[in-house]
Amino acid sequence: MKIFLDTANIDDIRKYNDMGLLDGITTNPSLLAKEGGDPHAAMEEITRIIKGDVSLEVVSTDYDGMMEEGKKLREYGEHVVVKCPMTGDGLKACKSFSEQGIPVNVTLVFSANQALLAAKAGAKYVSPFIGRLDDIGHTGMDLIREIKQVFSNYDFKTEILVASVRHPQHVVDAAKIGADVVTLPAAVLAKMLGHSLTDKGLKAFLADWNKLQSELSNKA
Ligand code: G3P
Repeated sequence: MKIFLDTANIDDIRKYNDMGLLDGITTNPSLLAKEGGDPHAAMEEITRIIKGDVSLEVVSTDYDGMMEEGKKLREYGEHVVVKCPMTGDGLKACKSFSEQGIPVNVTLVFSANQALLAAKAGAKYVSPFIGRLDDIGHTGMDLIREIKQVFSNYDFKTEILVASVRHPQHVVDAAKIGADVVTLPAAVLAKMLGHSLTDKGLKAFLADWNKLQSELSNKA
C-alpha cells in the first residue's frame, strides 16, 4: 500500500520523506490555507522535494477554469496529479486531462456510485473521505470495501486513495481491504510510528548496557 502525506507543511514533508516513508503527497485548499503564506510557492516546493505523485487541487468550479488551472499546476512537474472535485464539470475535466495523459485525482467522493463515475471518466485516483463519513454516523470504511469490490468486478485501474484518515486503525483497516493508497495527516503517521513498548524496551536495553559498562570499568 502506498503512503501519501496529506499536508502542505514543508517541515513534515521533509521529515517523513527523509525516513523513506512517502510515496506521494496530497494537498487541498484548506491545508494550504492552514500553513499561510504563498500557496503557489508551497506547491512548487513540495513538487521539488517529492518525486512521487503530488496531488494539487484546482479551485475553479467550471470546466474551462479547471482545464486552465490544471495545466498551470502541471508546469511544476510531470508528477503533478490534478485534483478535481466530484462534480459534472470535474468529471468532464477528468476525462479531458486523462485523454491528454495528465493524471487526475477525483476528490470529495462519498459514495461507491461517485467512485464508479470517476473511474469511468478516467481518474487515476479516487479519494473517498472516510473520516467525514464517520463524523456523520456512517462507517467510512464500508465505502472503501464497496469501491474495492466494484473496481475489481470490472477491472478498473483507478486507484483507491483513502482520504480523511483520522487514526492508525483506519490505516490497518484500509490495508486489510487492499486499498491502493492512504493519505495521512502527519499526526496519524507519527502515531503509527510510535509504541510505548518500543520506548520501554529501548530504555531497558540502554540501562542494561550502561550497567554492564560500569561493571566492566569497576573491574578494570
Ligand atoms: O485528503 C482529504 C483530507 O484532507 C480531508 O481530511 O480531516 O479535513 O476530513 P479532513
